[in-house]
Amino acid sequence: MRRAEFVRGAAAALGTLTLSGTLKAQPFRRLLVRAEQEGEEALWRVIREQFVLNPDSTYLNFGGLGAMPLPVIRSYEEWSRAEERSPGAGYDEKNWNEVKVKTARILGKSCRAEDLAFISTATEGINMILNGLPLKKGDEVITSSHEHISLKAALLNLRKRSGVVYRTFDPDLKSGPGNVDRIAALVNSRTRLIFLSHLTCTYGQVFPVKDIAALARAKGLWFALDGAQAAASIPFDLEETGADFYTASCHKWMMAPKRTGFLYVRKDMLDILQPLTVGAGSAERTDMAAGEIVPKPNAGRFEYGTQNEALFFALGTAVDFIEDIGLDRVQAYGRGLAEAFYAGLRDIPGAESVSPEEAAYRSPMISFRISGRDYQDVIRRMGEARIRVRPVNENGLNCIRVSFYINNAVSDVEKILNVLKKSA
Ligand SMILES: Cc1ncc(COP(=O)(O)O)c(C=O)c1O
Repeated sequence: MRRAEFVRGAAAALGTLTLSGTLKAQPFRRLLVRAEQEGEEALWRVIREQFVLNPDSTYLNFGGLGAMPLPVIRSYEEWSRAEERSPGAGYDEKNWNEVKVKTARILGKSCRAEDLAFISTATEGINMILNGLPLKKGDEVITSSHEHISLKAALLNLRKRSGVVYRTFDPDLKSGPGNVDRIAALVNSRTRLIFLSHLTCTYGQVFPVKDIAALARAKGLWFALDGAQAAASIPFDLEETGADFYTASCHKWMMAPKRTGFLYVRKDMLDILQPLTVGAGSAERTDMAAGEIVPKPNAGRFEYGTQNEALFFALGTAVDFIEDIGLDRVQAYGRGLAEAFYAGLRDIPGAESVSPEEAAYRSPMISFRISGRDYQDVIRRMGEARIRVRPVNENGLNCIRVSFYINNAVSDVEKILNVLKKSA
């Protein structure tokens, strides 16, 4: 579908929406400007009103799955409709790259659009990294014991298929830098890769990724990060993390449609990581007679086949939405609510936060237990009070995780603390 065609068709009906900065979703920005004049409270209320989340429920699980705000829903619907009006294989490269530029902006000022490939999920990215690296039987990967099933399953699969071994460390919750020491203690002559979460899904712990990258560099190891929980939720500059590979889903904190994600490959790693699935869009040139395939000169080589461009063009709108509010402001807001909850836990008899003790390594996700109470019971009680949280059963950790974001209000923090207090 061509941009001009879209503008003539769908945008005419919608009035305001294209990928270009000049015509993008003005109404939300206008609403924001007006609300801002009324003050902070009005501003955050207008932002909350953009979500179609069930108003009878308190959603504290953006870490599990994000929700698209109205401008993103509309964008996705309109781009989908435009596609169905005039189906066309391939996609508008100009718009596609424009969304990559926007996505790169969320990932830090030095992140380059050409180092990103659009994929479906962090799970896909994790598998692309693990299976695309030249790892062989006996090689070792260091990871943490708090990884999401997507990385654990991929490591188990790799071990089964190729005999690549993993070694795990238990995250240090008292000292951020302690994690570097724990990883260093596992490095040996067979280690090839350090692969862990940027921000864990278990306790919402931020790892000291720059220091881990420095260790990886000093030891000649590759360094990969699963950023599924980190993209947009915490401040960082992807390039400065020092990761060679980084992947995330955009359907959590970036609020984009489900099954949007990206894979980042540092430029000098392009020829080391092999694309395992290729097709239309992956190669610059293919020549069956010469037996030659020349991959694209950038991370675009990891994209293949028909794309659902509506998904990714709506990702562009999700970035507009975040930038209209301000990325820093979005991150500070979620973090502020999480810190209020963290502090409030101290007044709940028996409550114990299991998230990192140092504030610098905490995030908008806080995990906790109530001593003497089965965590499933506490979650049931939350359910009765219509509060959506996430059980953490990875590695038998058996606790409860709550995520705070721009869909939430201070009253949500009060609500969950009150329910906990009453049921203590
Ligand atoms: C740390 C982490 N990695 C990977 C994933 C997998 O994300 P997806 O299912 O979108 O691939 C999740 C999902 O919660 C996660 O928390």
